[in-house]
Amino acid sequence: MNAIELLKEQHDEVEDMFEKIEKADGAKKEALFEKLADALAIHATIEEKHFYPSAKAEQTEELLREAVEEHLSVKRLIADTMKCDPEDEQFDAKIAVLKEQVLEHAKEEEKELFPKVRKLLSRDELDDLGVVMEDMVKELQEKGAPRMQVPSEIGAPAPL
Ligand SMILES: [Fe+2]
Repeated sequence: MNAIELLKEQHDEVEDMFEKIEKADGAKKEALFEKLADALAIHATIEEKHFYPSAKAEQTEELLREAVEEHLSVKRLIADTMKCDPEDEQFDAKIAVLKEQVLEHAKEEEKELFPKVRKLLSRDELDDLGVVMEDMVKELQEKGAPRMQVPSEIGAPAPL
């Protein structure tokens, strides 16, 4: 799959997951949050390790620097929410803020970054990048619980 199509598909999946969490309670809510945190951790990792470095150019650098700062902020929220009991009265508020940040970040990528990257990389390059990114998704899923990496990544933005 083309790298941009893969990322857009993940954005849609994550949006669905937020909607499900909002409707869930108790143990179900906790399980859905863990699934969401795993999906966001995988998404951030494949972007930071592969997509952003491949997309780095004069015309994208400012957007990419903002993107890694947004990832940092999202990771801090995830790490904080992982420590929070779903029964805690602040849990839903944390999820709501996480949703706002994630959806805004995804919208910016789709509206501003991806069109620039489409001009920068050829169709073949985007296909090849997609393959590498899909391999990394599988690798991270097989290792299990990718969200557990997030608390170790909240000190500084990922290097570009
Ligand atoms: Fe991102």
